Amino acid sequence: HGTSTINANGHLEIGGRDVADLAKEFGTPLYIVDETLVRQRAKEYVEAFKASGLKFQVAYASKAFSVMAMCSIAEQEGLSLDVVSDGELYTALQAGFPAHRIHFHGNNKTPDEIEMALDAEIGCFVVDNFHELALLNAIAGEKGKKVNILLRITPGVEAHTHDYISTGQQDSKFGFDLGNGAAKQAIEQAVALPNLEVLGVHSHIGSQIFEVEGFRMAVDKVAGFAVSIRSELGLTFKVINLGGGFGIRYVDGDTPLPISEYVEAITGAIKSNFSAADFPLPEIWVEPGRSMVGDAGTTLYTIGTSKNIPGVRKYIAVDGGMTDNPRPALYQSRYEAVLANRANEAAEETVSIAGKCCESGDMLIWDLELPKAESGDLLAVFCTGAYNYAMASNYNRIRRPAVVFVKDGEADLVVKRESLDNIVCNDVIPARLQKSPL
Ligand code: LLP
Repeated sequence: HGTSTINANGHLEIGGRDVADLAKEFGTPLYIVDETLVRQRAKEYVEAFKASGLKFQVAYASKAFSVMAMCSIAEQEGLSLDVVSDGELYTALQAGFPAHRIHFHGNNKTPDEIEMALDAEIGCFVVDNFHELALLNAIAGEKGKKVNILLRITPGVEAHTHDYISTGQQDSKFGFDLGNGAAKQAIEQAVALPNLEVLGVHSHIGSQIFEVEGFRMAVDKVAGFAVSIRSELGLTFKVINLGGGFGIRYVDGDTPLPISEYVEAITGAIKSNFSAADFPLPEIWVEPGRSMVGDAGTTLYTIGTSKNIPGVRKYIAVDGGMTDNPRPALYQSRYEAVLANRANEAAEETVSIAGKCCESGDMLIWDLELPKAESGDLLAVFCTGAYNYAMASNYNRIRRPAVVFVKDGEADLVVKRESLDNIVCNDVIPARLQKSPL
Protein backbone atom coordinates (compact mmCIF):
# COMPACT_ATOMS: atom_id res chain seq x y z
CA HIS A 1 0.00 0.00 0.00
CA GLY A 2 1.35 3.40 -0.97
CA THR A 3 4.98 3.82 -0.13
CA SER A 4 4.70 1.40 2.78
CA THR A 5 7.25 -1.37 3.20
CA ILE A 6 8.23 -3.90 5.86
CA ASN A 7 11.56 -3.22 7.57
CA ALA A 8 14.17 -5.58 9.06
CA ASN A 9 12.28 -5.68 12.40
CA GLY A 10 9.19 -6.92 10.59
CA HIS A 11 7.50 -3.59 11.21
CA LEU A 12 5.42 -1.66 8.75
CA GLU A 13 7.16 1.45 7.53
CA ILE A 14 5.39 4.39 5.87
CA GLY A 15 7.18 7.36 4.34
CA GLY A 16 10.42 6.01 5.77
CA ARG A 17 9.07 5.83 9.35
CA ASP A 18 8.62 2.69 11.43
CA VAL A 19 5.00 2.84 12.55
CA ALA A 20 5.83 1.28 15.94
CA ASP A 21 8.00 4.35 16.58
CA LEU A 22 5.17 6.59 15.46
CA ALA A 23 2.86 4.82 17.92
CA LYS A 24 5.36 5.49 20.73
CA GLU A 25 5.85 9.11 19.75
CA PHE A 26 2.27 10.12 18.96
CA GLY A 27 0.11 7.43 20.58
CA THR A 28 -2.77 5.48 19.00
CA PRO A 29 -5.20 5.59 17.32
CA LEU A 30 -3.18 7.61 14.86
CA TYR A 31 -3.90 8.72 11.32
CA ILE A 32 -0.70 8.52 9.27
CA VAL A 33 -0.71 10.34 5.93
CA ASP A 34 1.95 9.56 3.35
CA GLU A 35 2.67 13.05 2.03
CA THR A 36 4.69 11.79 -0.93
CA LEU A 37 1.72 9.81 -2.16
CA VAL A 38 -0.69 12.73 -1.80
CA ARG A 39 1.66 14.91 -3.82
CA GLN A 40 2.04 12.15 -6.40
CA ARG A 41 -1.75 11.93 -6.84
CA ALA A 42 -1.98 15.71 -7.25
CA LYS A 43 0.76 15.59 -9.87
CA GLU A 44 -0.98 12.74 -11.73
CA TYR A 45 -4.07 14.93 -12.15
CA VAL A 46 -2.14 18.02 -13.15
CA GLU A 47 0.12 16.16 -15.61
CA ALA A 48 -2.81 14.38 -17.24
CA PHE A 49 -4.65 17.67 -17.76
CA LYS A 50 -1.53 19.38 -19.08
CA ALA A 51 -1.18 16.55 -21.59
CA SER A 52 -4.74 17.19 -22.80
CA GLY A 53 -3.87 20.72 -23.87
CA LEU A 54 -7.13 22.02 -22.36
CA LYS A 55 -7.28 24.79 -19.79
CA PHE A 56 -8.10 23.26 -16.42
CA GLN A 57 -8.38 23.52 -12.67
CA VAL A 58 -8.00 20.53 -10.39
CA ALA A 59 -9.93 21.48 -7.26
CA TYR A 60 -9.22 19.20 -4.34
CA ALA A 61 -12.56 18.38 -2.67
CA SER A 62 -11.50 19.24 0.83
CA LYS A 63 -14.48 17.47 2.39
CA ALA A 64 -12.45 14.26 2.01
CA PHE A 65 -9.85 15.54 4.45
CA SER A 66 -9.88 19.18 5.39
CA VAL A 67 -7.03 20.29 7.64
CA MET A 68 -4.78 23.30 7.26
CA ALA A 69 -1.65 21.31 6.37
CA MET A 70 -3.56 19.57 3.59
CA CYS A 71 -4.63 22.95 2.22
CA SER A 72 -0.97 23.95 2.18
CA ILE A 73 -0.08 20.88 0.13
CA ALA A 74 -2.94 21.54 -2.28
CA GLU A 75 -1.71 25.11 -2.65
CA GLN A 76 1.88 24.01 -3.30
CA GLU A 77 0.77 21.48 -5.90
CA GLY A 78 -1.11 24.16 -7.80
CA LEU A 79 -4.55 22.77 -7.00
CA SER A 80 -7.72 24.73 -6.46
CA LEU A 81 -9.96 23.91 -3.52
CA ASP A 82 -13.59 22.93 -3.21
CA VAL A 83 -15.18 23.86 0.12
CA VAL A 84 -18.73 23.16 1.27
CA SER A 85 -19.10 25.02 4.56
CA ASP A 86 -17.83 27.97 6.51
CA GLY A 87 -15.63 25.54 8.45
CA GLU A 88 -13.89 24.24 5.35
CA LEU A 89 -13.60 27.78 4.01
CA TYR A 90 -12.13 29.00 7.28
CA THR A 91 -9.65 26.12 7.32
CA ALA A 92 -8.48 27.05 3.81
CA LEU A 93 -8.23 30.76 4.56
CA GLN A 94 -6.38 30.17 7.82
CA ALA A 95 -3.89 28.05 5.89
CA GLY A 96 -3.34 30.98 3.55
CA PHE A 97 -4.94 29.24 0.60
CA PRO A 98 -5.44 31.77 -2.23
CA ALA A 99 -9.10 32.74 -2.15
CA HIS A 100 -9.42 33.14 -5.90
CA ARG A 101 -8.75 29.39 -6.24
CA ILE A 102 -11.54 28.42 -3.82
CA HIS A 103 -14.89 27.15 -5.09
CA PHE A 104 -17.87 27.08 -2.74
CA HIS A 105 -20.30 24.18 -2.99
CA GLY A 106 -23.32 23.05 -1.05
CA ASN A 107 -27.08 22.66 -1.41
CA ASN A 108 -27.97 24.92 1.49
CA LYS A 109 -25.40 27.64 1.94
CA THR A 110 -26.50 30.01 4.69
CA PRO A 111 -26.54 33.79 4.29
CA ASP A 112 -23.63 33.98 6.76
CA GLU A 113 -21.59 31.52 4.72
CA ILE A 114 -22.29 33.45 1.53
CA GLU A 115 -21.22 36.71 3.18
CA MET A 116 -18.05 35.18 4.50
CA ALA A 117 -17.14 33.78 1.09
CA LEU A 118 -17.93 37.08 -0.66
CA ASP A 119 -15.83 39.02 1.84
CA ALA A 120 -12.96 36.61 1.28
CA GLU A 121 -13.37 37.09 -2.49
CA ILE A 122 -13.38 33.42 -3.39
CA GLY A 123 -13.12 32.45 -7.05
CA CYS A 124 -16.47 30.86 -7.70
CA PHE A 125 -19.76 29.74 -6.19
CA VAL A 126 -21.34 26.55 -7.43
CA VAL A 127 -25.02 27.45 -7.17
CA ASP A 128 -27.29 24.55 -6.37
CA ASN A 129 -30.87 25.90 -6.50
CA PHE A 130 -33.21 28.82 -7.25
CA HIS A 131 -33.29 30.03 -3.66
CA GLU A 132 -29.51 30.35 -3.67
CA LEU A 133 -29.48 32.21 -6.99
CA ALA A 134 -31.69 34.94 -5.54
CA LEU A 135 -29.91 34.99 -2.18
CA LEU A 136 -26.43 35.17 -3.67
CA ASN A 137 -27.45 37.88 -6.10
CA ALA A 138 -29.00 39.93 -3.28
CA ILE A 139 -26.05 39.64 -0.89
CA ALA A 140 -23.54 40.31 -3.68
CA GLY A 141 -25.59 43.39 -4.60
CA GLU A 142 -25.47 44.71 -1.03
CA LYS A 143 -21.71 44.38 -1.12
CA GLY A 144 -21.43 45.87 -4.59
CA LYS A 145 -19.85 42.74 -5.96
CA LYS A 146 -20.24 40.66 -9.09
CA VAL A 147 -19.61 36.95 -8.45
CA ASN A 148 -18.55 34.11 -10.69
CA ILE A 149 -20.90 31.18 -10.58
CA LEU A 150 -21.32 27.73 -12.00
CA LEU A 151 -24.78 26.18 -11.94
CA ARG A 152 -24.90 22.67 -10.59
CA ILE A 153 -26.95 20.53 -12.91
CA THR A 154 -28.16 17.00 -12.34
CA PRO A 155 -27.46 15.25 -15.61
CA GLY A 156 -29.55 12.14 -14.92
CA VAL A 157 -26.59 9.75 -14.99
CA GLU A 158 -26.62 6.88 -12.51
CA ALA A 159 -23.15 5.98 -11.37
CA HIS A 160 -22.71 2.41 -10.14
CA THR A 161 -21.96 3.07 -6.53
CA HIS A 162 -23.53 3.01 -3.08
CA ASP A 163 -26.90 4.79 -3.02
CA TYR A 164 -25.96 7.35 -0.40
CA ILE A 165 -22.92 8.54 -2.33
CA SER A 166 -24.49 8.60 -5.76
CA THR A 167 -25.67 12.05 -6.79
CA GLY A 168 -26.11 12.32 -10.56
CA GLN A 169 -29.50 10.61 -10.85
CA GLN A 170 -32.65 12.69 -11.11
CA ASP A 171 -34.02 11.82 -7.67
CA SER A 172 -31.34 13.70 -5.76
CA LYS A 173 -31.32 16.64 -3.38
CA PHE A 174 -28.62 18.32 -5.45
CA GLY A 175 -28.74 20.64 -8.41
CA PHE A 176 -31.00 21.72 -11.25
CA ASP A 177 -32.48 18.88 -13.29
CA LEU A 178 -31.46 18.72 -16.88
CA GLY A 179 -34.38 16.51 -17.83
CA ASN A 180 -37.31 18.66 -16.68
CA GLY A 181 -36.12 22.05 -17.86
CA ALA A 182 -35.04 23.35 -14.44
CA ALA A 183 -31.44 23.69 -15.59
CA LYS A 184 -32.36 25.89 -18.54
CA GLN A 185 -34.67 27.97 -16.40
CA ALA A 186 -31.85 28.46 -13.88
CA ILE A 187 -29.49 29.71 -16.59
CA GLU A 188 -32.15 32.12 -17.84
CA GLN A 189 -32.65 33.50 -14.35
CA ALA A 190 -28.94 33.67 -13.61
CA VAL A 191 -28.03 35.66 -16.72
CA ALA A 192 -30.79 38.13 -15.87
CA LEU A 193 -29.42 38.70 -12.35
CA PRO A 194 -27.08 41.69 -12.38
CA ASN A 195 -24.60 40.57 -9.73
CA LEU A 196 -23.91 37.10 -11.08
CA GLU A 197 -21.51 36.12 -13.85
CA VAL A 198 -22.33 32.67 -15.25
CA LEU A 199 -19.09 30.87 -16.13
CA GLY A 200 -20.72 27.56 -16.95
CA VAL A 201 -22.08 24.44 -15.34
CA HIS A 202 -21.12 21.75 -12.87
CA SER A 203 -22.03 18.08 -12.74
CA HIS A 204 -21.02 15.47 -10.16
CA ILE A 205 -22.29 11.96 -10.73
CA GLY A 206 -21.23 10.17 -7.58
CA SER A 207 -18.28 8.82 -5.66
CA GLN A 208 -15.99 5.76 -5.71
CA ILE A 209 -16.67 5.22 -9.42
CA PHE A 210 -14.48 2.82 -11.37
CA GLU A 211 -15.77 3.01 -14.96
CA VAL A 212 -15.22 5.95 -17.30
CA GLU A 213 -18.61 5.39 -18.91
CA GLY A 214 -20.56 7.54 -16.42
CA PHE A 215 -18.17 10.46 -16.90
CA ARG A 216 -18.44 10.16 -20.70
CA MET A 217 -22.23 10.16 -20.46
CA ALA A 218 -22.15 13.19 -18.20
CA VAL A 219 -19.90 15.03 -20.67
CA ASP A 220 -22.26 14.15 -23.53
CA LYS A 221 -25.24 15.51 -21.61
CA VAL A 222 -23.48 18.66 -20.44
CA ALA A 223 -22.10 19.32 -23.93
CA GLY A 224 -25.55 18.91 -25.45
CA PHE A 225 -26.88 21.35 -22.88
CA ALA A 226 -24.08 23.85 -23.59
CA VAL A 227 -24.83 23.77 -27.29
CA SER A 228 -28.56 24.29 -26.80
CA ILE A 229 -28.00 27.14 -24.32
CA ARG A 230 -25.67 28.86 -26.77
CA SER A 231 -28.14 28.65 -29.61
CA GLU A 232 -31.21 29.51 -27.51
CA LEU A 233 -29.81 32.10 -25.11
CA GLY A 234 -26.58 33.17 -26.79
CA LEU A 235 -24.55 32.28 -23.69
CA THR A 236 -21.30 30.35 -24.23
CA PHE A 237 -20.07 28.34 -21.23
CA LYS A 238 -16.42 29.05 -20.49
CA VAL A 239 -16.14 26.40 -17.78
CA ILE A 240 -17.40 22.86 -17.40
CA ASN A 241 -16.86 21.28 -13.99
CA LEU A 242 -17.22 17.50 -13.91
CA GLY A 243 -16.98 17.02 -10.17
CA GLY A 244 -15.12 14.20 -8.48
CA GLY A 245 -15.87 10.57 -7.84
CA PHE A 246 -12.80 8.79 -9.16
CA GLY A 247 -12.49 5.50 -7.31
CA ILE A 248 -9.64 3.97 -5.35
CA ARG A 249 -8.71 0.43 -4.37
CA TYR A 250 -9.65 -0.42 -0.80
CA VAL A 251 -9.73 -4.22 -1.13
CA ASP A 252 -9.25 -6.91 -3.76
CA GLY A 253 -12.02 -6.66 -6.28
CA ASP A 254 -11.96 -2.85 -6.36
CA THR A 255 -10.82 -1.96 -9.86
CA PRO A 256 -10.09 1.74 -10.23
CA LEU A 257 -8.31 3.00 -13.33
CA PRO A 258 -5.16 5.08 -13.19
CA ILE A 259 -6.01 8.77 -12.69
CA SER A 260 -4.68 9.60 -16.17
CA GLU A 261 -7.33 7.36 -17.74
CA TYR A 262 -10.23 9.16 -16.06
CA VAL A 263 -8.77 12.48 -17.13
CA GLU A 264 -8.21 11.25 -20.69
CA ALA A 265 -11.76 9.95 -20.90
CA ILE A 266 -13.16 13.30 -19.76
CA THR A 267 -10.91 15.55 -21.82
CA GLY A 268 -11.32 13.29 -24.87
CA ALA A 269 -15.10 13.41 -24.60
CA ILE A 270 -14.99 17.19 -24.14
CA LYS A 271 -12.84 17.68 -27.22
CA SER A 272 -14.91 15.45 -29.46
CA ASN A 273 -18.27 16.84 -28.30
CA PHE A 274 -17.34 20.51 -28.44
CA SER A 275 -15.27 20.36 -31.62
CA ALA A 276 -18.11 18.57 -33.38
CA ALA A 277 -20.44 21.42 -32.36
CA ASP A 278 -17.87 24.02 -33.41
CA PHE A 279 -17.90 25.35 -29.87
CA PRO A 280 -14.83 27.02 -28.30
CA LEU A 281 -13.20 24.45 -25.99
CA PRO A 282 -14.20 25.24 -22.41
CA GLU A 283 -11.93 25.17 -19.41
CA ILE A 284 -12.34 21.85 -17.56
CA TRP A 285 -12.50 21.69 -13.79
CA VAL A 286 -12.64 18.53 -11.66
CA GLU A 287 -13.03 18.01 -7.92
CA PRO A 288 -11.32 14.83 -6.77
CA GLY A 289 -11.41 14.14 -3.04
CA ARG A 290 -11.04 10.45 -2.26
CA SER A 291 -8.54 9.73 -5.03
CA MET A 292 -6.29 12.57 -3.85
CA VAL A 293 -5.86 11.38 -0.26
CA GLY A 294 -7.61 8.04 0.26
CA ASP A 295 -4.82 5.58 -0.30
CA ALA A 296 -2.25 7.85 1.34
CA GLY A 297 -3.88 7.38 4.76
CA THR A 298 -3.35 4.57 7.25
CA THR A 299 -4.90 4.32 10.69
CA LEU A 300 -2.79 2.77 13.40
CA TYR A 301 -4.52 1.19 16.39
CA THR A 302 -3.41 -0.70 19.47
CA ILE A 303 -5.10 -4.03 20.01
CA GLY A 304 -6.71 -4.49 23.41
CA THR A 305 -9.12 -7.24 24.29
CA SER A 306 -10.39 -10.16 22.29
CA LYS A 307 -13.40 -12.42 22.58
CA ASN A 308 -13.48 -15.87 21.07
CA ILE A 309 -16.84 -17.53 20.52
CA PRO A 310 -15.80 -21.09 19.64
CA GLY A 311 -17.13 -22.16 16.29
CA VAL A 312 -18.61 -18.73 15.67
CA ARG A 313 -16.13 -15.86 15.56
CA LYS A 314 -13.18 -14.23 17.21
CA TYR A 315 -13.51 -10.53 17.91
CA ILE A 316 -10.40 -8.42 18.38
CA ALA A 317 -10.96 -4.93 19.73
CA VAL A 318 -8.88 -1.86 18.95
CA ASP A 319 -8.61 1.50 20.72
CA GLY A 320 -10.69 3.34 18.08
CA GLY A 321 -13.57 2.38 15.82
CA MET A 322 -16.58 4.06 14.28
CA THR A 323 -15.58 7.36 15.88
CA ASP A 324 -12.46 7.58 13.71
CA ASN A 325 -13.84 5.53 10.80
CA PRO A 326 -17.64 5.47 10.48
CA ARG A 327 -17.52 4.18 6.89
CA PRO A 328 -17.96 0.45 7.60
CA ALA A 329 -21.00 1.21 9.79
CA LEU A 330 -22.44 3.74 7.31
CA TYR A 331 -21.71 2.14 3.97
CA GLN A 332 -20.57 -1.41 4.75
CA SER A 333 -17.18 -0.27 3.45
CA ARG A 334 -14.40 -2.83 3.48
CA TYR A 335 -10.77 -2.33 4.44
CA GLU A 336 -7.53 -4.27 4.51
CA ALA A 337 -5.27 -4.35 7.54
CA VAL A 338 -2.07 -5.93 8.85
CA LEU A 339 -0.45 -6.46 12.23
CA ALA A 340 1.92 -3.55 11.88
CA ASN A 341 4.53 -4.72 14.40
CA ARG A 342 4.58 -8.27 12.99
CA ALA A 343 3.98 -7.49 9.34
CA ASN A 344 6.29 -10.26 8.14
CA GLU A 345 4.40 -13.07 9.93
CA ALA A 346 2.01 -15.38 8.11
CA ALA A 347 -1.71 -15.27 8.85
CA GLU A 348 -2.88 -17.93 11.29
CA GLU A 349 -6.49 -17.13 12.03
CA THR A 350 -9.56 -15.30 10.83
CA VAL A 351 -10.70 -12.55 13.16
CA SER A 352 -13.09 -9.61 13.11
CA ILE A 353 -11.94 -6.17 14.19
CA ALA A 354 -14.24 -4.40 16.63
CA GLY A 355 -14.11 -0.80 17.76
CA LYS A 356 -14.52 0.34 21.36
CA CYS A 357 -17.88 2.11 21.04
CA CYS A 358 -20.91 0.88 22.92
CA GLU A 359 -22.68 -0.22 19.81
CA SER A 360 -22.75 -3.64 18.10
CA GLY A 361 -22.46 -2.02 14.68
CA ASP A 362 -19.07 -0.63 15.63
CA MET A 363 -17.08 -3.12 13.57
CA LEU A 364 -14.19 -2.05 11.36
CA ILE A 365 -13.41 -5.26 9.48
CA TRP A 366 -15.18 -8.59 9.27
CA ASP A 367 -13.15 -11.76 8.61
CA LEU A 368 -9.60 -10.55 8.43
CA GLU A 369 -6.69 -12.99 8.16
CA LEU A 370 -4.05 -12.18 10.78
CA PRO A 371 -1.19 -13.77 12.70
CA LYS A 372 -2.28 -14.59 16.30
CA ALA A 373 -2.68 -11.08 17.63
CA GLU A 374 -2.02 -10.21 21.25
CA SER A 375 -2.98 -7.28 23.39
CA GLY A 376 -0.49 -4.50 22.68
CA ASP A 377 0.06 -5.45 19.04
CA LEU A 378 -0.50 -2.71 16.47
CA LEU A 379 -3.10 -2.93 13.73
CA ALA A 380 -2.69 -0.80 10.59
CA VAL A 381 -5.83 -0.25 8.51
CA PHE A 382 -5.07 0.98 4.99
CA CYS A 383 -6.70 3.54 2.71
CA THR A 384 -8.18 5.68 5.47
CA GLY A 385 -7.02 9.03 4.12
CA ALA A 386 -10.41 10.14 2.79
CA TYR A 387 -13.66 10.57 4.74
CA ASN A 388 -12.16 9.19 7.97
CA TYR A 389 -10.70 12.07 9.98
CA ALA A 390 -13.19 14.21 8.05
CA MET A 391 -16.13 12.18 9.35
CA ALA A 392 -14.73 11.41 12.79
CA SER A 393 -16.97 12.10 15.78
CA ASN A 394 -16.82 12.28 19.55
CA TYR A 395 -19.48 9.60 20.00
CA ASN A 396 -19.12 8.08 23.45
CA ARG A 397 -17.02 11.18 24.13
CA ILE A 398 -14.07 9.48 22.52
CA ARG A 399 -11.31 11.90 21.57
CA ARG A 400 -10.40 12.33 17.92
CA PRO A 401 -6.97 10.92 17.07
CA ALA A 402 -3.92 12.90 16.02
CA VAL A 403 -2.88 13.14 12.37
CA VAL A 404 0.75 12.98 11.26
CA PHE A 405 2.24 13.54 7.83
CA VAL A 406 5.24 11.34 7.03
CA LYS A 407 7.72 12.02 4.26
CA ASP A 408 11.31 10.89 3.65
CA GLY A 409 11.75 9.67 7.21
CA GLU A 410 10.22 12.77 8.82
CA ALA A 411 6.98 12.72 10.79
CA ASP A 412 5.14 15.95 11.53
CA LEU A 413 2.06 16.41 13.63
CA VAL A 414 -0.62 18.20 11.59
CA VAL A 415 -3.57 17.71 13.94
CA LYS A 416 -3.08 17.27 17.67
CA ARG A 417 -4.85 14.48 19.49
CA GLU A 418 -7.88 15.87 21.27
CA SER A 419 -7.54 16.28 25.01
CA LEU A 420 -10.13 15.50 27.66
CA ASP A 421 -10.43 19.25 28.08
CA ASN A 422 -11.36 19.53 24.40
CA ILE A 423 -14.20 17.13 25.14
CA VAL A 424 -15.83 19.44 27.69
CA CYS A 425 -14.60 22.83 26.48
CA ASN A 426 -17.92 23.82 24.90
CA ASP A 427 -20.08 22.45 27.71
CA VAL A 428 -21.80 24.93 29.96
CA ILE A 429 -23.52 24.13 33.23
CA PRO A 430 -26.31 26.69 33.74
CA ALA A 431 -26.20 28.34 37.15
CA ARG A 432 -29.44 26.65 38.27
CA LEU A 433 -27.82 23.22 37.72
CA GLN A 434 -24.62 24.01 39.52
CA LYS A 435 -23.91 22.13 42.68
CA SER A 436 -24.81 24.30 45.62
CA PRO A 437 -22.17 24.37 48.36
CA LEU A 438 -23.06 21.92 51.16
N1 LLP B 1 -17.63 17.28 -5.81
C1 LLP B 1 -18.84 17.17 -5.26
C2 LLP B 1 -19.90 18.11 -5.67
C3 LLP B 1 -19.09 16.17 -4.32
O1 LLP B 1 -20.31 16.06 -3.81
C4 LLP B 1 -18.06 15.29 -3.94
C5 LLP B 1 -18.30 14.25 -2.96
C6 LLP B 1 -16.80 15.44 -4.53
C7 LLP B 1 -16.63 16.44 -5.47
C8 LLP B 1 -15.65 14.55 -4.20
O2 LLP B 1 -15.91 13.22 -4.53
P1 LLP B 1 -14.76 12.11 -4.41
O3 LLP B 1 -13.73 12.44 -5.45
O4 LLP B 1 -14.20 12.17 -3.04
O5 LLP B 1 -15.45 10.85 -4.67
N2 LLP B 1 -18.60 10.20 2.75
C9 LLP B 1 -18.65 9.35 1.57
C10 LLP B 1 -18.34 10.09 0.31
C11 LLP B 1 -19.27 11.26 0.05
C12 LLP B 1 -18.90 12.03 -1.17
C13 LLP B 1 -19.69 13.29 -1.23
N3 LLP B 1 -19.38 14.14 -2.31
C14 LLP B 1 -17.69 8.19 1.76
O6 LLP B 1 -17.09 8.11 2.83
O7 LLP B 1 -17.54 7.34 0.89
